[in-house]
Amino acid sequence: MASSREHPLGGSFVQAASAVARDIEAYWQDLERDSPPWPVMSSATPGQVLSKFPGDAPMHPESLERVLADVREVILPGLTHWQAPGFFGYFPANTSPPAVLADLLCAGLGVQGMSWATSPACTELEVRVLDWLARAIGLPARFEFGDGSGLGGAVIQGTASEAAITTLVAARSRVRNRLGPSARIGVYASTQAHSSIAKAAMIAGVIDRAPDFAGPGDDGGALADDQRSGGVLRLIAPGKGLSMDTSALSRAMSRDAAMGITPTFVVATVGTTASMAVDDVGACATLAERHGAWLHVDAAFAGAACVCPEFRDLLRGCERADSFCFNPHKWLLTTFDCDCLYLADRRAIIDALSVTPEYLRNPAATPAANPAAHPARIDYRDWQLPLGRRMRALKLWFVMRLYGVEGLRAYIREHVRLGEMFAAIVAADDRLELVAPRGLSLVCFAPRPKPGEILASVNERARALLLATNADGRVYLTHATLPTEADGSARAAAQRFVLRMAIGGSFTQERHVRLAWSLIRGALP
Ligand SMILES: Cc1ncc(COP(=O)(O)O)c(C=O)c1O
Repeated sequence: MASSREHPLGGSFVQAASAVARDIEAYWQDLERDSPPWPVMSSATPGQVLSKFPGDAPMHPESLERVLADVREVILPGLTHWQAPGFFGYFPANTSPPAVLADLLCAGLGVQGMSWATSPACTELEVRVLDWLARAIGLPARFEFGDGSGLGGAVIQGTASEAAITTLVAARSRVRNRLGPSARIGVYASTQAHSSIAKAAMIAGVIDRAPDFAGPGDDGGALADDQRSGGVLRLIAPGKGLSMDTSALSRAMSRDAAMGITPTFVVATVGTTASMAVDDVGACATLAERHGAWLHVDAAFAGAACVCPEFRDLLRGCERADSFCFNPHKWLLTTFDCDCLYLADRRAIIDALSVTPEYLRNPAATPAANPAAHPARIDYRDWQLPLGRRMRALKLWFVMRLYGVEGLRAYIREHVRLGEMFAAIVAADDRLELVAPRGLSLVCFAPRPKPGEILASVNERARALLLATNADGRVYLTHATLPTEADGSARAAAQRFVLRMAIGGSFTQERHVRLAWSLIRGALP
């Protein structure tokens, strides 16, 4: 084979791509059948799929047909089908035909957009599409490239976890530039915040091990600290409605400041993973401003809802945040991976993450080094963990152009309608109760406790209900635990096991939600 253009596909590239596209289409159709060929959650046992692959790579070319046959026979039965319309677990991982085609195009173009110069269109499309998206969700203008200040801007990263790590490193750097390298770093979030915040604190060297989420900390929260760095992560107990108790946050930050720890990074969650609780971003901003801390807003799932003006209350207070992220790959029809991280002042992240060896230098200065440079001339390698980056903006661009903002609104509204419908059905059944208020399209519910029943027994019945519902194989729900005493006063609040009905799959329709309900009802004693 002289070059990869003489590819081993056994026909033209277009024929081969059509065969793959046909298989994808057939897969989606299979998932939508009334009796799909596989359970939503894979029933594979550990090693079962592995044992079907030979130990060594083939020495000689095999046919594409053979490989695709293995996808059908070996891979598909070993998957949990995140695109099944009966998938209601975790948060969804959206996909859509436009996003899949854009990802194919991205692979075909195969560009490396680490610097503006390595592919100007890769960077400039990202700049444009992120401004489109900021306007589409009603983010304050200061997060846009185009707001005229030259400070705001955004980047596509893989995940919200990377957004947390990069913004924490920027915040740490800002504090250490001000106070010196031995400044002790304080990080604050709710116990309901995503575990990626604790991981970010570990990777950034603030703490050396994960906090004991269930352990008693100050005010009923959780604490992790590091004797060597002197840093702390404080997870603040929730108050009413499971949003962060900002009085407890205020006390924790003041106490730390008095002890010589610099409050550095506050995370407000807009739409918690367990129950879609929303922290008071404005109150967090007041505290962050008081202590000179960075405020990061994690709206990984819920941010997408803001394409609809009626949900933009979720953004209240965000105009005072330093950064904001959400994942179109969760709920905006965009194939994984796609997290959009918005920054009010992009200089901090560039200052913290820029490393420029000689081989990456190119003639024109970046806007960070030379404010007179054109604002679109951005080296995104300075905004993220890896050096290399593919052209992920293509899939957002395809999705936004092919659905239009109105199409995206209709998509979100339908899921929220289904969430409302499901919550009403659950609330009307006196064997069940909503354990937290419905948030957008997420419903947390559990069996209603019987008079005098102890928590362990109610939780056991909830666990059994989840197992029995999922056992049918046509739907899949996951669980969470929520504190039962959500007034911030309990030292180690008892945890209630809840089933989470997370509606947001790309192919989910009303009949799938009704099917889930009929299985839940059938599994109730
Ligand atoms: C609120 C929240 N933040 C962050 C994350 C982490 O997302 P990612 O997988 O993009 O890191 C999740 C995942 O579900 C989440 O719910």
